[in-house]
Amino acid sequence: MAISNPRVTYIKWALLVLALFAHTCNGFYLPGSYMHTYSKAQEIITKVNSLTSIETELPFSYYSLPYCKPPDGIKKSAENLGELLMGDEIENSAYRFKMNVNETLYLCTTHPLTEHDVKLLKQRTRDLYQVNMILDNLPAMRYAYQNGVKIQWTGFPVGYTPPNSKDDYIINHLKFRVLIHEYEGSGVQIIGTGEEGPGVISEAEKKKASGFEIVGFEVYPCSVKYDPDTMKKKSMYQSIPAVNCPSELEKSQIIREQEKVSFTYEVEFVKSDIRWPSRWDAYLKMEGARVHWFSILNSLMVIFFLAGIVFVIFLRTVRRDLTRYEELDKESQAQMNEELSGWKLVVGDVFREPDSSKLLCVMVGDGVQITGMAVVTIIFAAFGFMSPASRGMLLTGMIILYLFLGIIAGYVAVRMWRTIKGTSKGGDQFPGLWHASFLECRLSYSYVPLTLLGGFLGTRAEAIQFPVRTNQIPREIPARKYPSWLLVLGAGTLPFGTLFIELFFILSSIWLGRFYYVFGFLLIVLLLLVIVCAEVSVVLTYMHLCVEDWRWWWKAFFASGSVSLYVFLYSINYLVFDLQSLSGPVSAILYLGYSLIMATAIMLSTGTIGFLMSFYFVHYLFSSVKID
Ligand SMILES: *[C@@H]1O[C@H](CO)[C@@H](O)[C@H](O)[C@H]1NC(C)=O
Repeated sequence: MAISNPRVTYIKWALLVLALFAHTCNGFYLPGSYMHTYSKAQEIITKVNSLTSIETELPFSYYSLPYCKPPDGIKKSAENLGELLMGDEIENSAYRFKMNVNETLYLCTTHPLTEHDVKLLKQRTRDLYQVNMILDNLPAMRYAYQNGVKIQWTGFPVGYTPPNSKDDYIINHLKFRVLIHEYEGSGVQIIGTGEEGPGVISEAEKKKASGFEIVGFEVYPCSVKYDPDTMKKKSMYQSIPAVNCPSELEKSQIIREQEKVSFTYEVEFVKSDIRWPSRWDAYLKMEGARVHWFSILNSLMVIFFLAGIVFVIFLRTVRRDLTRYEELDKESQAQMNEELSGWKLVVGDVFREPDSSKLLCVMVGDGVQITGMAVVTIIFAAFGFMSPASRGMLLTGMIILYLFLGIIAGYVAVRMWRTIKGTSKGGDQFPGLWHASFLECRLSYSYVPLTLLGGFLGTRAEAIQFPVRTNQIPREIPARKYPSWLLVLGAGTLPFGTLFIELFFILSSIWLGRFYYVFGFLLIVLLLLVIVCAEVSVVLTYMHLCVEDWRWWWKAFFASGSVSLYVFLYSINYLVFDLQSLSGPVSAILYLGYSLIMATAIMLSTGTIGFLMSFYFVHYLFSSVKID
């Protein structure tokens, strides 16, 4: 009876948590996940995200600058948890369009710029701040030619500074080009088919559901000097004659005290063949997939190299086994003894409990949790379920998944611990188990009840039995010429070799706001990484056992986990050479903090993969080979 009480409590907890999540998920509607069709002249509202800069990592609110405000007030419209967490501040903007109506409109004129306004605008301009605009979930895209090469950005700058100039000019006229795809619902919208006969259907077919889908959003910014007095007489959204973007600076709007800045915009709708499902392709156009293929080729080479070594190990093991059963002459007997000086000698120690075994179990539990989250998220992303359209959804999904995977973390940690302890009976390990589960919770910061639930399931599961007994007295480990940790640290370079090219793109997407979209490639690289980690760890474990070093547990973990060291060093290198302009020590410390968290997660994940594979390998090695 005593055992059923906690079980009931956990089930209650689990139900509560499920209910909570169900509620949360309903609360956040998922943007970009469905198609919006607009009818002709239907109003379309644009949104603005925070002003961002690649020079400084600090985002600012759009309305911190003297821009025109929407007539019905500023409303926050972040759409999910992930967006909130990422600090995206999405608000409605004053720019609004009518579907498929080309027009040029006046927006507003500011008060005479004060000293403060001027300072702020100049500062933001010089820091290369970008305005990020969103229409129907699509970020505004800007095309330009630089040295004859067409390049694309998202967003447009706050202002610009001509070369060698003290003056700055504000972007106050925006020319939008909205790509639309005419939608003809071929009878999809017909209500009441079937019973009513064919006459009704043809009636309904006359009123074909038609409309427009937005499949592209481009912006061409410029700076135009207006006469503030004539502009001020106009009302908001009044039509004005077409505006020509000037190429001369005298006709551009300078940022200076007492200047009144008028804002205008122009929108044209262009029919396009792009269909709604592929509207993100333009954002995802890449300079060339070659570099990603190179990264995969690179990984494959490492994999084949390591696989060769693993193959040789197994070949030798098997061959040695076969020769055992033949009647051996003296010579080969001697040779066998020599060969036996390897891993078979540590048979009585190989499953001896490692130092800090509890920590190891907890780290493996965490590693499984993180790996699971990464794999599932990337698989989903690779198959397009989390398109970049749902900017925050990726993060929301990851967090929810991570919490749920706490069950597996708890289960793995507790089961592993029971296995290492070599006990499958007796109640005395229970306090320790709960301690392990709690430690797991504390370390992983995951949802406590879920992890405990997993831990509880772990206590129910069968502990893995070791194939050989452990001796009472530990065997002495022969002295080595060099510390084995050196080898373990060096081993991390191999998985890093498979990772570093993709790492550059991932870091750029996090820190420079570039789109990361090659999730398909990332998935392949991830799979290759898993294989390399497993191979590296197995090879190293075998090498250690061969020199009678039976303390393989932690070394197996760090043989692959040490890749994180290189990842961290790489992010420092990235900070120094690619993010040179990261402003100030605060940003740099923040960056290093994030990098450290990332490296730790990678360490837990890769270490766990290597460790579990080595565990399986050692278990297999000692159970398949008969030892007297
Ligand atoms: C709007 O302008 C674009 C580009 O000039 C043109 O292709 C399109 O037909 C115009 N649309 C309407 C409704 O006039």
